[in-house]
Amino acid sequence: MSAFDNIRPIQWEHGKLRLIDQRILPQSETWLEYEASADVADAITSMVVRGAPAIGITAAYGVVLAAQRRYRESADGWRSAIEDDLKYLAASRPTAVNLFWAIERMRGVIESVAVGGPGPALLAEAQHIHQEDVAANLRMGELGAALIEGEGGGILTHCNAGALATGGYGTALGVIRSAFAAGKTAMVYADETRPWMQGARLTAWEMVHDDIPVTLLADGAAAYLMKQGKVQWVVVGSDRIAANGDVANKIGTYSAALAARYHGVKFMVVAPTSTVDMSVASGGEIPIESRSTDEILGLAGQRIAAEKAQAWNPVFDVTPADLVDAIVTEKGVVLNPNTEKMAVMMKS
Ligand code: MRU
Repeated sequence: MSAFDNIRPIQWEHGKLRLIDQRILPQSETWLEYEASADVADAITSMVVRGAPAIGITAAYGVVLAAQRRYRESADGWRSAIEDDLKYLAASRPTAVNLFWAIERMRGVIESVAVGGPGPALLAEAQHIHQEDVAANLRMGELGAALIEGEGGGILTHCNAGALATGGYGTALGVIRSAFAAGKTAMVYADETRPWMQGARLTAWEMVHDDIPVTLLADGAAAYLMKQGKVQWVVVGSDRIAANGDVANKIGTYSAALAARYHGVKFMVVAPTSTVDMSVASGGEIPIESRSTDEILGLAGQRIAAEKAQAWNPVFDVTPADLVDAIVTEKGVVLNPNTEKMAVMMKS
């Protein structure tokens, strides 16, 4: 591992999946172990692990655990029995397309395993998915940092698109790590990211871990920060990018993109091609997850809102391609994305 690349939130050890529990970071660095695919799916739903690429990698290991169990139960019937496990894994969260992409890759191996147990071939595929993700992040780090001009500027990020949200290094935080290493940024501004606080709890933890200066702000303060001239780029990840370059990401990303355009701040989306869904023409077709209204009506498990108040909790939004200056993937950079440019990049 290189400098700034030393957090691995997903580990496969001695036939078990290990996940750092992101619900309780940074107060506690607790690792949980999984031996059953249904528990892995529940870990995704309950956000033990979160972030689009990390969800995909985790699901791939979940398929390994499912296949091992189904094959133990029936060497003849495992291939049909595992379908229920794949369905349960696929139902764990709706927006991050990496989940479905990873399950389909694992399904390809399930269909091609000839004789003997499926465990080794499926484990090898899950490990490829995992390693490819880290390699993609390192490449995107270089490509994204190359777009940032000047020295010591400010970068604003939203949610956590870091090592914790991926196999390692991160997408948006990968670019930020590479930009910091090159002297191109001196301060990372992190939206706290209501309601789940991925910015305050996870992005800040990763930046402090790597000795990269980080300043937290309330999500609503981002536009005012831009007005002060403190940031030159907004750099974020994505859960799903449509064929026309529309970008689904954590709720509040759209507001940050609108504010960036108004203030002349550039807006960069960093995501591997496993996050691009060419079957979806535009962002309006992307399923947006709604989570419990308790996340809005309370804080840290404590009710804060008046008893009869209602709440609305969509956890992602869609930023139209028009507001995006650059999409960075491991295959290359798409400036001012549209359907034609996205298709060319995906085919390259
Ligand atoms: O609800 P979460 O924490 O899974 O949402 C995560 C995000 O929105 C990230 O920005 C996105 O998945 C990209 S992660 C590299």
